[in-house]
Amino acid sequence: MPEADTQGEKDFHLDVPASTAGFFLKGSGSYDWGMQNRLARIFRPETGRTVMLAFDHGYFQGPTTGLERVDVSIAPLGPYADALMLTRGMLRTSIPSSHQGGVVMRASGGPSILKDLSNERIAIDIDDAVRMNVHALAVQVFVGGEYETQSVENMTRLVSAGYRYGMPVLGVTAVGKELTRDARYLGLATRMCAELGAQIVKTYYVDEGFERVTAGCPVPIVMAGGKKLPELDALTMAYRAVSEGAAGVDMGRNIFQSEAPAAMIQAVAAVVHGGSSPAEAHELYRELVEGRALAQTS
Ligand code: R5P
Repeated sequence: MPEADTQGEKDFHLDVPASTAGFFLKGSGSYDWGMQNRLARIFRPETGRTVMLAFDHGYFQGPTTGLERVDVSIAPLGPYADALMLTRGMLRTSIPSSHQGGVVMRASGGPSILKDLSNERIAIDIDDAVRMNVHALAVQVFVGGEYETQSVENMTRLVSAGYRYGMPVLGVTAVGKELTRDARYLGLATRMCAELGAQIVKTYYVDEGFERVTAGCPVPIVMAGGKKLPELDALTMAYRAVSEGAAGVDMGRNIFQSEAPAAMIQAVAAVVHGGSSPAEAHELYRELVEGRALAQTS
């Protein structure tokens, strides 16, 4: 038993109102503490944004170029990312358990690139995600796809499971070959994800009307990277996305297929968190490649 607390005067800070501060992230003010805390492990509270590194591609297309050896090429990038987006197989085999950043885990899967990709099922039990200290579950939603309803149900089931544990769900709007990638379609798909409970939505950038996509979605949108572009173009796309309302990026190939992935992810972070212009971030990229600048970790 501790001794009786008889030391000195107590200070209840009677002149300081109790904090009623809200939560920093769009649409997230009513969530429980645990869910908000997990979101704060993915999005930086100082900027309200995230640089997420996506390397879950192998779950449907095997050893993607740049991901042949995740332990060699991707694990060293961990300190530069706010969160890693990956499968549980890669987390357990190839990422050190000393990893300090966020973890967003791919939670749907099934078909390979040889089949209809929309025919996914839930691919993880939430108890296993909790066991791995995961901060969010990611599920593909194929609006307009052959198995649209099934993929939406995958998401809603994960959202319901997530609320039991304070685990947010990231709805990933899939864009198949047959689906038009424009603001009208992405506005539909992202809004559906949010309406049906996703706490974060991932979608592609479009040149026309992206600000209407982000405005119409009541939860944070993160921009997917898409196919590999020249570095300046990828930085420009990230810049436009955050300028037009995205709460960061979830990029894969434009980082891990870059000639210098560590330099590229730092340049992306300069845009997303540092307010750098595409030209400034590209100059940082060049400096890092040439050894003229010091590496920055979060
Ligand atoms: C797609 O199904 C996966 O979720 C990828 O992780 C995602 O599309 C991001 O990768 P990338 O930036 O290479 O498109």
